Amino acid sequence: MNILVTGGAGYIGTHTCVALLQAGHQVVVLDNFSNSHPEALARVEQICQQRIPVYQGDVGDADLLEQIFTAHAFDGVIHFAGAKAVGESVEKPLYYYRNNVTASQTLFEAMQRFGVNTIVFSSSATVYGDPHAVPILEDFPTGPTNPYGRSKLMVEEIMQDHARADQTFNGIILRYFNPVGAHESGLIGEDPNGIPNNLMPFIAQVAVGKRAQLAVFGDDYPTKDGTGVRDYIHVCDLAEGHVKAIERLHGQAGCHVFNLGTGSGVSVLEMVAAYADASQRPVPYAIAPRRAGDVAQCYADASKAQQLLGWQAKRDLRDMVADSWHWQSGNPDGYRSSSDSE
Ligand code: NAD
Ligand code: UFG
Repeated sequence: MNILVTGGAGYIGTHTCVALLQAGHQVVVLDNFSNSHPEALARVEQICQQRIPVYQGDVGDADLLEQIFTAHAFDGVIHFAGAKAVGESVEKPLYYYRNNVTASQTLFEAMQRFGVNTIVFSSSATVYGDPHAVPILEDFPTGPTNPYGRSKLMVEEIMQDHARADQTFNGIILRYFNPVGAHESGLIGEDPNGIPNNLMPFIAQVAVGKRAQLAVFGDDYPTKDGTGVRDYIHVCDLAEGHVKAIERLHGQAGCHVFNLGTGSGVSVLEMVAAYADASQRPVPYAIAPRRAGDVAQCYADASKAQQLLGWQAKRDLRDMVADSWHWQSGNPDGYRSSSDSE
């Protein structure tokens, strides 16, 4: 298949480009590099020994989409492009609704004009809000608690309405749990700007010596050790889930919703211990107050993806931390380390 990958230079996008190319598909990337670096795509080309056509621009730019869809015959789109920081979405909701919702709508309109019916959309476990139970099933009530989460749910709802009106539309909604880790080559990985918001990249920077210690946000949750529990999933498993989803469901009209997670919960302190073990470095931490908006536990029931996509996460916590450390220790300043010295 020939696939347009929006946001293909980002963390999950790069790993998915590798998985698609290695499965024999072709990709074209559209990215505005607002949260990524062109070097990331050079690394994907290095891993796959293949050139990738890249368009630098905004997925909400209808004229650019016209140009791209005219130049390439796509079988489908995988739509990663979007902004993803919860705190920033509270400060800049209008930016989040434009960049995540309006831009997605512009993309759907371009697809309709060019008769491209299949799209895989990056949604998030955040659409479930504070779940009434775990593990979380796809039919649990939704109730996101911030503009980022609402932007994801709005796009899901647009896709559901569109599928009801246009019998040819094939929308695949993947709700990711917590993607972590990096490609086994150590060439691509997560490269957050500034101070990381998320646990794994923060721990990685403590282990490599860039930050003094981790603040553990709360140790009084009703969980196994009092710290927050999440469903961490290796980014390469997640990438393979996209390949399975587009291969299995291509052209099957309607909207299809899947959780992509491992189905098991890991606490903050378990993650700290696993990382210290993999890196053979200390990961100092201090208990801090709870972070506003955090839920105690969030993990998936991922059996629907197993049954209908034939997909299941294969990599365990040890693989996640070992691959994260391989990437972090080889690229302590992310992609900037290599491109600035060239
Ligand atoms: P990322 O920021 O690394 O990648 C997103 C990419 O999209 C970046 O390369 C960025 O430059 C690009 N981009 C952003 N807005 C754009 C626009 N308007 N036009 C063109 N390019 C644009 O993020 P990621 O972690 O790879 O996440 C990919 C998708 O998955 C996002 O939609 C995110 O909301 C979703 N998601 C991520 C997580 C996570 O924890 N990483 C969890 C659930 C869902
Ligand atoms: N945590 C700390 N210290 C930190 C960072 C995080 O203790 O410095 C804790 C959190 O309190 C939480 C756990 O580590 O218990 C995981 O936090 P993350 O920020 O890594 O992940 P979240 O589950 O809070 O949120 C992430 C993304 C959201 C997405 C959600 C579900 O940031 O965008 O996963 O996919 F919606």
